[in-house]
Amino acid sequence: MNQIPDIGTMVSKSDSSKGCLQTLVRSRPSPYYQDDRCTIYHGDCLEILDSIAPKIDIIITDPPYPDYYQKEYEYWDGCTDFLKKIPCRQIIFWTAKQEFPMCYDARHVWDKITGAANQYDFIYERNGNKRQMVFRGHRINSTVSAQFAGEYFYGHKSQKPIRLMRELVSKFSKPSDTIFDPFMGSGTTLLAAKELGRKAIGIERSERWCKISKMRIAQCELF
Ligand SMILES: C[S@@+](CC[C@H](N)C(=O)[O-])C[C@H]1O[C@@H](n2cnc3c(N)ncnc32)[C@H](O)[C@@H]1O
Repeated sequence: MNQIPDIGTMVSKSDSSKGCLQTLVRSRPSPYYQDDRCTIYHGDCLEILDSIAPKIDIIITDPPYPDYYQKEYEYWDGCTDFLKKIPCRQIIFWTAKQEFPMCYDARHVWDKITGAANQYDFIYERNGNKRQMVFRGHRINSTVSAQFAGEYFYGHKSQKPIRLMRELVSKFSKPSDTIFDPFMGSGTTLLAAKELGRKAIGIERSERWCKISKMRIAQCELF
């Protein structure tokens, strides 16, 4: 099991006037929601990650990516940089319209099966597999097909289909794994993880989406 280096919990500094070491302890934020399987934190993942120091096996996340037609994705340059310091397997959504800003081992396709030729996005895998095939001229490793159909829409512009997230959770994680989603949105990753018996931790900076995620996850019956 990998652990994000716990930089924030203890900071020691020399107090020259007393000639001793003083230890400052940064407080751990309280979860917004917690049950046997899932924990939600409300906040900016870049600010609170060190202090929660989650024990995780795999990251499955859908960051705000650059889509110039959708300003509400709130992309910023370097939003995924902190993931470079985390050594576990990572499954990261990214638009097919822009280059992925990190090294990766595999690229998978989410085929939205709408009938339109360009309706797909990529899912990048870091610290994972390398087998390759071809999809519409792109070198890729696998395709995952899922439509957003017959499912309740909670109003999040980037809400992912629960079938898609279930498939990714079962394909890439083991039942004993803890999954981490630092850009949780409306909580679809955590919901799929809980349904499939995994533990999961999510962070979301908008309280609105924390509330929706909490509602979805609290209502979920284990299969
Ligand atoms: C693409 S959406 C995720 C959607 C999610 N997969 C779903 O199914 O609803 C990205 C989310 O990251 C959140 N976000 C952006 N920057 C963040 C940050 N620094 N810390 C935590 N959450 C952040 C946004 O508010 C947004 O809800």
